[in-house]
Amino acid sequence: MIIWLTGLSGAGKSTLADGLAAKLKAEGVQPLMIDGDGLREELSRDLGFSAEDRMENIRRAGAIALLAARSGITSICSLISPLRSEREAIRGLCQARDVAFIEVYVSTPLSTCEGRDPKGLYKKARAGMIPKFTGIDSPYEPPLHPELVIPTHELTIEEAVRRLHSGVKNLE
Ligand code: ADX
Repeated sequence: MIIWLTGLSGAGKSTLADGLAAKLKAEGVQPLMIDGDGLREELSRDLGFSAEDRMENIRRAGAIALLAARSGITSICSLISPLRSEREAIRGLCQARDVAFIEVYVSTPLSTCEGRDPKGLYKKARAGMIPKFTGIDSPYEPPLHPELVIPTHELTIEEAVRRLHSGVKNLE
């Protein structure tokens, strides 16, 4: 199974991924965590944020998750993954291999993400210091038919994690 969290920077993807992982671990499932920041530290350190590089970053994340699935390992992927076509490509690969794909839209709006600005990146992006920042001057396409939607701006962290966990369990 691949649980794929998509949403803007600061939407809460990593927090949700960590919360879900803790619940799965308590049930005896040790998920593989694949996140954009972690990928970019090593495996994707050759990549930036052009459309081509993001596509390649997302392709690599999907490839690792598919390999893990072959070994029976559940992956939790948290990447902005801004384009529908790229997420749909991974969904297609999952379908072809009979791997469950759960697309989770972390639907926190830009205004909330920008208000949180945990890494101070929106401020820099607005100041023109980070070109092609997702949601500012680079596109984000919300999923049209995600399996789950988690509006973190309307929920506490605990509620959001609980909703994600029960949603995943219902889809299993
Ligand atoms: S993705 O577009 O390729 O899916 P990914 O999830 O790996 O993105 O990385 C996003 C993280 O990189 C953000 O949370 C942020 O910390 C950092 N970042 C640096 N530059 C940018 C940028 N131009 N746009 C979006 N995120 C950026």
